[in-house]
Amino acid sequence: PAFTPFAARMPESRVLAPVTRTSDTDIYQLSVRAKTIEILPGYQTPVLTYGGDFPGPTIRARAGRRVKLNLRNQLPQDVNVHLHGGHVSAANDGYPTDLIPSSAGRVYEYPNTQQGATLWYHDHSHGTEAEHVYRGLHGLYVIDDPGENHLGLPCGRYDVPITLRDAQFDDTGAFVWGVHPGERDVTLVNGKPVPHYPVARRKYRFRFANAATERVFQLDLGGAEMIQIGSDGGLLPAPIQRTEITLGSAERMDIVIDFARYPLGAKLVLNDPRGPVMRFDVTREAFDNSRVPDTLRALPVMPPATVDRHVSMTFDLSSEVPLGLMDGKPFDHNRVDMRIKRGASEIWSLYNGDTEFGITHTFHMHLVQFTVLDRDGKPPTLDDAGRKDTVFVAPGETVRVQAHFDSEFLGKYMYHCHYMEHSSLGMMAQMEIVP
Ligand code: C2O
Ligand code: CU
Repeated sequence: PAFTPFAARMPESRVLAPVTRTSDTDIYQLSVRAKTIEILPGYQTPVLTYGGDFPGPTIRARAGRRVKLNLRNQLPQDVNVHLHGGHVSAANDGYPTDLIPSSAGRVYEYPNTQQGATLWYHDHSHGTEAEHVYRGLHGLYVIDDPGENHLGLPCGRYDVPITLRDAQFDDTGAFVWGVHPGERDVTLVNGKPVPHYPVARRKYRFRFANAATERVFQLDLGGAEMIQIGSDGGLLPAPIQRTEITLGSAERMDIVIDFARYPLGAKLVLNDPRGPVMRFDVTREAFDNSRVPDTLRALPVMPPATVDRHVSMTFDLSSEVPLGLMDGKPFDHNRVDMRIKRGASEIWSLYNGDTEFGITHTFHMHLVQFTVLDRDGKPPTLDDAGRKDTVFVAPGETVRVQAHFDSEFLGKYMYHCHYMEHSSLGMMAQMEIVP
């Protein structure tokens, strides 16, 4: 079905209200259920939802306050939820085989002891995560950090989460699943196809998250300036002026755009090589006392690394169904692939061995954020800046990252390619954090 670019208005995602607050905990309730909604004008699309919303509602947690998320599974199949980028105990991490059966419920606990960040939550049920997320089981989770208020960054209604993803529709308006992700031709922004968003002549903080299962977005504003202030795990040490940003599957970036530089009536298109993504329409004046200071938040200092590891991501394409491999092996939940001492500082060399077919991957590690040291021995790109938990790895490339496993938690955590079609096919492994 056809749609007119920029006709829809980009919705602001609903902020989920807690059902109860105690002195140190916010308690939320969400049902996982199927629904039919209008995404393309005049068509009804069956989707899977958290709480009836597509994408799921945004959870705004507060640094230092615990969240309890009570999830009810009203789908016929098993699901679970993983807080991507969250520092959480293994029991609450949404392990791929730790599922919520149909009609059952489950409470997940998130301590929010990490710094402010744009995280997201999504299904992680083993083998079905890609389809579940594609059909709608993803939402944003923002940790607001009172320790960052003094910076004076745009906030309140000028702090706007934007979830990007792709989809393909059939003639009836239903999602098509099972074709190559490269053929999905519709870009959805907060659930609407290539929308416009009316903005005031002032600064905005946009929290861009790529919730596509495989698509990489390469975004520009026609050469206009975007100021990057944050990445996956929170604020950067200092803002970076950008004219183009690349967001691989599961990556996030906080970007400030100052629309005061444009006249009323200006229309700025956010582009990707595959076509327009959305348009910002400057429609009104507004007071602005926000700023982007030269210094934001220093990166935590990591002790020198004492362990070096190598991880390779490849496909075995010899069988009819491709097999995703980490270090030559498909995921096996009975096998621990690495034991990591709690408190260790480690360097991981991430290698994409899929040179023959030129398949790209993104690498994601649960539990901690890392910093990117280099790419094939060359300095990291601007897209690698800050505290990362997901990083793009081109065919044949080796990306070295350093992580400090300084959290209090022990147990089994995943690392995997975050192209969800790839992790679904086995490109996933597990590390066990040990005392
Ligand atoms: Cu975004 Cu293992 O997940
Ligand atoms: Cu991959």
